[in-house]
Amino acid sequence: MKDNTFTEDITDYIENLKKERNAVILAHNYQRGEVQDIADFTGDSLELARWAVDVDADILVVCGVDFMAESAAILNPDKIILHPEKEAKCPMAMMVSPSKLEKMKEDYPNASVVSYVNTSAEVKALSDICCTSANSAKVVNSLEGDEVIFVPDKNLAHWTSRHTTKKIIPWDGYCPTHHFLTLKDVINTKNEHPDAELLVHPECRPEVCEIADVVTSTSGMLRYVKKSEKKEFIIGTEIGLIHKMMLENPNKRFYPASEYLICPSMKIPLESVAKSLEEIEPIVEVEEDVRKKAMKALERMLSV
Ligand code: 13P
Ligand code: SF4
Repeated sequence: MKDNTFTEDITDYIENLKKERNAVILAHNYQRGEVQDIADFTGDSLELARWAVDVDADILVVCGVDFMAESAAILNPDKIILHPEKEAKCPMAMMVSPSKLEKMKEDYPNASVVSYVNTSAEVKALSDICCTSANSAKVVNSLEGDEVIFVPDKNLAHWTSRHTTKKIIPWDGYCPTHHFLTLKDVINTKNEHPDAELLVHPECRPEVCEIADVVTSTSGMLRYVKKSEKKEFIIGTEIGLIHKMMLENPNKRFYPASEYLICPSMKIPLESVAKSLEEIEPIVEVEEDVRKKAMKALERMLSV
């Protein structure tokens, strides 16, 4: 009872601050349920980037990891971008540094650079184009050359290589949350729920993707379960996604592929959202020269 009252009070407080500040809240599909519930928009990385461009507001509060807030800042230089938890960083994005990428570009001078949106602004600025898990094959196939350096996720690179004839040169990065979902975990969960369909994110290992019924982005999974005739699903991605799945499909059952599918960086508390709107900080800033270059790579992706 105490918890419910607290959530109602803080929710009202945030709603009032949003009006006062002409602010909107964007939350990634992995975010805590109560944060998704107060958001004006929830979606996958691509949808958040697109929505941020179109929305009419002075302040965008991005409830996701650092690269999502940075992408919003890159695409919206005239809006204030707040990232309530400055330290909510994507560990995979940190696996690629600008200097090492520059070296790789020298090693493969004819290759285009495709960077997953899970990268820093500096890495995007060194890239020809960005991609997300929803459009990686489309992006790669839109390029002219035959060689592509793909950063930072080796698993998404592998998944993409199955949908193109181009040579993909992968970076050796991975998402700790998805990469440590093993084939054994998934087989065990399948044995417990033999009638369930298996949906996995392309950040999972190749052998996990191999046995899945569907491999797609977080929003791709949401769309799929809505229209599927099936009643049970094993979800091979961060467990936060199940919140929206259950809301949208009250008559269907969802099982996490493993109880360890949690991305700690994605769990922003309501208190931090309230504090951020109250104090109008932390503001995300990207150095102008980097921003312009990174914007080119993001805009090129959005036009594909
Ligand atoms: P989506 O683009 O599918 O939402 O994935 C983002 C992400 O961080 C996956 O781990
Ligand atoms: Fe990064 Fe993985 Fe968390 Fe997605 S789930 S934000 S890729 S660490």
